[in-house]
Amino acid sequence: MSQMKRMTTLLCAVQVCWVAMLEAAPLSITLPAETAVFKANGLPGYALAQQKCSTCHSADYISFQPPGMSLAQWTAEAGKMQKVYGAPISDQDVSIIGAYLAATYGSAQASDADVQAASYPAPGKPSSAQGAKVDAMALLQNNACLSCHALDHKVVGPAYRDVAAKYANDAQALVKVTLSIQQGGTGRWGSVPMPPFAQLSQDDLQAMAAFILQQ
Ligand code: HEC
Ligand code: HEC
Repeated sequence: MSQMKRMTTLLCAVQVCWVAMLEAAPLSITLPAETAVFKANGLPGYALAQQKCSTCHSADYISFQPPGMSLAQWTAEAGKMQKVYGAPISDQDVSIIGAYLAATYGSAQASDADVQAASYPAPGKPSSAQGAKVDAMALLQNNACLSCHALDHKVVGPAYRDVAAKYANDAQALVKVTLSIQQGGTGRWGSVPMPPFAQLSQDDLQAMAAFILQQ
């Protein structure tokens, strides 16, 4: 046998063996270890991490980190993914994911005040204008505001665009409109009264007022 021929035979043999292994592979697969997925818990960072942290590498990268890392360390780790490796996440995502990781893989507890604060950022400081818009629209919808109001034309009550125009030069606009929604009333736009919404939280009232004033 020439050298060449022997090589070819050998290669073929290897290939056959390889193909056989591939075919047999499904039978011998063991389930992935549980470490390959993110550990579940009730913090909002769990869903975010699943969404944002598994596009480039598996969750193993997280479970292989040394145990006992603090909130600051995990937040720095998420920040490094954002700044150094270009993970497409906002600064707020970094804090929320950092809090989830610290409580799940590190030394923090989900009930820690700083973990809670990072996981549920104060309303009124939304991560993006888009988020604020969606929230305010949902509030308007859920409280039946849109059965009497539209953004750009009068229904029972004035168009929100006209309300924004009326208050455009008023430094107290946010306070006044928040109060208008809370207390309802009549006589500012006509004789039809608007019902009060005294049961809504100050945050919700303000979010709606701010949104209306941006129209
Ligand atoms: C844009 C891609 C990308 C995304 C998205 C990403 N990572 Fe990474 N990550 C990397 C790269 C690159 C490395 C370094 C890989 C290596 O060294 O083999 C890495 C490594 C890591 C490590 C190992 C320790 C280290 O610092 O190298 C951890 C932990 C980690 N990532 C966590 C996360 C978390 C948490 C998220 C979600 C916030 C995330 N990654 C999202 C690219 C990404
Ligand atoms: C039953 C119909 C009705 C509903 C429901 C309603 N409004 Fe009104 N709204 C009115 C009317 C009528 C006026 C005009 C009142 C007036 O002339 O003073 C008004 C006025 C307003 C104004 C202008 C206040 C000002 O200071 O000029 C705002 C802002 C407003 N509504 C927001 C809301 C929001 C937010 C909701 C839901 C939480 C809501 N409205 C629900 C009928 C309604």
